[in-house]
Parts: sequence; C-alpha cells; structure tokens
Amino acid sequence: IPVDPFDLVIFGITGDLARRKILPGLFHRALVGQLPEGARVIGSARSDMEQSEFQDMVRNSLLEFAPGTAADTDALNAFLDKLSYVRVDATGGGGWSELAKLLRPDVIRAFYLSVSPSLFGPIAASLNTHGIATPQSRIVVEKPFGHDLETARSLNAELRRNFDEHQIYRIDHYLGKETVQNLMALRFANSLWEPLWNATHIDHVQITVAESIGVGGRGDYYDRSGAMRDMVQNHLMQLLCLTAMEPPSKLSPNAVRDEKVKVIEALEPVAQDDIVRGQYRQAAGNDSYVDHVGNPDSRTESFVAMKVNIGNWRWAGTPFYLRTGKKLRARCSEIVVMFRDPPHMIFPKLEGRRGNALIIRLQPDEGITLRTTIKEPGPGGLRLAEVTLDMTFADALSDGAEAQDAYERLIMDVIRGDQTLFMRGDEVEAAWEWADPLIAGWAEAHQRPHPYDAGGSGPEDALMLLHRDGRRWREMD
Ligand code: BG6
Repeated sequence: IPVDPFDLVIFGITGDLARRKILPGLFHRALVGQLPEGARVIGSARSDMEQSEFQDMVRNSLLEFAPGTAADTDALNAFLDKLSYVRVDATGGGGWSELAKLLRPDVIRAFYLSVSPSLFGPIAASLNTHGIATPQSRIVVEKPFGHDLETARSLNAELRRNFDEHQIYRIDHYLGKETVQNLMALRFANSLWEPLWNATHIDHVQITVAESIGVGGRGDYYDRSGAMRDMVQNHLMQLLCLTAMEPPSKLSPNAVRDEKVKVIEALEPVAQDDIVRGQYRQAAGNDSYVDHVGNPDSRTESFVAMKVNIGNWRWAGTPFYLRTGKKLRARCSEIVVMFRDPPHMIFPKLEGRRGNALIIRLQPDEGITLRTTIKEPGPGGLRLAEVTLDMTFADALSDGAEAQDAYERLIMDVIRGDQTLFMRGDEVEAAWEWADPLIAGWAEAHQRPHPYDAGGSGPEDALMLLHRDGRRWREMD
C-alpha cells in the first residue's frame, strides 16, 4: 500500500548509513510500489555537489549496496528523479533558505538526522528558526542516543525545545527486524504461549547477539563506547523488553512503550560478579582488538555477558542471560526461552537432554524453532529423543511477499506517523539509568576485560556465568 506523498530530508546523505541502508531501503520501497508519485527525497550534506554528482553518488551507492535491484536502470532512473541535493551547513547559517524553498507546503515533512549526535540539537533548532519544521513534521534520530544518562537527557532536552515527543522518532534498528516484531505477534496473537510465559514455567531466557565481524572503520567511536553502550543498552535491552513485557492493552505506540518502560524500571541492579566483559585477542589470522583500534592500553569490552533479574511478579526467579560480542565464531542472534522440566519424569533418563526450548532466531536465518521431547521412533522400546520443529520466515512468506530490511520498514513507519517501533525519550533514559552504574562499577574497579580468541565463543568466564547456575549457553552457530 503506497504511503501519502512526502518530502524526506536526509541530513548526512553522503555518510555510511545513508549509502548503505537508507538509500537502498528507499529504493527497494520504490521498486515494490510503496513510494507514491508525490514522494521526494532531499539529500543534504556540507559539501558542494551538483545535481549530477549527487545522482552519481546515489547510483554508485545503490550499485554497491543493492546490486541486484539497481541493475533495473529504468527503475533506478525513476528513483533518481525523485531525489535532489541541497548543501546545508548544520552548524553555520548556510543552506537553510534553499532547503525551505524545496519543501512543499501540503505534504508530510520528515527530517532524518543521519549525523553525529552533536548536530541533533543545532539542526533541530535551525529547522525551527528558519520556519522549516511544522507542527506535523517528524524528526528522526539515529543512535547512539547519548553516552550516558546525562548526555541522553540533554539530547532529549535539545530535541524537545523544538519538537514535541510525538514528532520525535529515535531509531533502534533492531525494532525494525522481522523477528523482533514477530515476537509480539507470537506472544500476543496466540493463546498457546502466554499461559506459560512466566517464572512458573520458564527456567531462564538467553539473549545472544553474536557478530563475526569486528569494529571495522569505527574504532574511534567503539573504543569510547564498548559493547555495553553499543549493543546492550539499546538493542539487547529492546529484545529483553519485548520478551518480558506485559501484554499491552492495545497496539498503540504509547501502550507498547509504557509496558517496555515498566520492564526496564523493574530490572534489579546487576552485581559485578554477574557481568563478564571480554576483549578479543589475536587468533585465527585476526588482529587483536587493541591492535585494530590502535590503543594498546584499551580496556574497552568487545564482548559482554551478564545475568539480569527482573524484579516483578511474572519473572522473579527466572534470570535473563544476555551476551553480545564482536569477532565471535558466528553471526548468530537469538532469544532462547528455556522451559522448566516436567515436575515428575516417568521415562528413563535421556543423556544430554537439553529440555523444551522456544528459539526465536533473528539472524542469520530468521525463524522460530521449538525443541520438544518425543519417543525415539522405532522398535527400541519407550526411549526419549529431542527433535525440533522449525519454521523459517523465508519459507513461510506468502507468495510474492518481499522481505523488508529493518530500515525500510522504519522509514515507512515514520511517513505513516507510527511511533510503535521507535524509542520514547523516557525509555532511553531508563535504559541509561540502569546501564550507568554497571559501567561506573567496572571503571572504578579499573577492571580489565577477559581476553578471548578472535573467532571463538567469548571468554571462558562467560560460560561459567551459566555453569555455576547449572545451565549452559546454546551453541552459537
Ligand atoms: C549497530 C552497532 O547498532 O548494530 C554495531 O553500532 C553492530 O556495532 C550493529 O555491528 C549490528 O546490527 P545488525 O543488524 O548487523 O545485527
């Protein structure tokens, strides 16, 4: 279904995110017919660029990051016709009146700030002082949203000086992933799970976001952030919230976000003993983290695992184990819901039994697996075996349905004015309020992260975090 006509202004159009995700996402939406005739995209950056140079930049980005689709030259040219460029100096005065002239009065206006957070405030203010923002406009900001509670609060304050909360779209691209939304459908559109979705029936939950890649060209940023700020405070926290939250009364942005905030507020303080930080060392032909970022003394974690307890009626006694890291043996993101064993077993013991689990896979192949126990088929008597019921979303997609990247979905939600999959200001602040003392705790202790081999499964101590509770992580593969 096409959305209403819009003017989308992308600040930072020559940046990595715009070239890699935003432009290919928009192009893909154009290909499937979701962009209306009246859709316009205005790219903006600090450099001078002729329209033809800009179109070349966009064409090259699409050929590089959306190679299959960009081969359709008619579609590509039609897409390029929707795009224009304006040079705007976000910190100085230049370019705002030119931008104002390009915008149409009667269509949706959205401003996507794919720029450093230090520019969020100045751009929001300029949009206002130059009369470019209207009460219906939307402003989209990328992560990192703050470095700690204090900086997140001041970013919120800067944005709110010029926009109302209902106009602010804070992106966490994990919320745009198919499986993440499916988590809500799975939980709240079925009667099967919800009666079991509590501490009485669930032994523990594991949330793993393992990456095989390293920090790439972002060493400077990453070395100041680490896995806790880069991944846990936002992406893993969102996964935890959607897994743990109470059913919202309706699918409205605030009903959903209210429930997520309640989960964050119910998180118990995490003891330093329940956190394992790691940093990868040279192995299997990979440089070490410190060599890669060029900081031999770095104590930044490229891996973190922790045990988190949620102090509420539903979850008391059921820990959530979180782990994420770079340069691990596989790219594997999943939520594993481990059910308790039956109270009384009448069958012979099954060696190596793992137990009932619902595995919600986010990456690489999105889908759901249910591990269940059956009788081992055949004549060998009543012996037990474990089997999995597997559902891959790619196979389950109805004919003709097109998989969507997280960014495409989120950009279309901005145009539709649906904030459900965006973080509210208080939600981001609550997550920092939880994360800050943990980060301060290890900084005060001058703690060094535990080394782990690049290409491995993370530090030994992360395995111990579960072993000591009589549990084990599901293998990353
Ligand atoms: C980003 C982090 O937010 O998410 C990166 O800054 C990380 O460090 C990326 O690699 C992971 O996203 P995805 O979608 O590839 O799992």
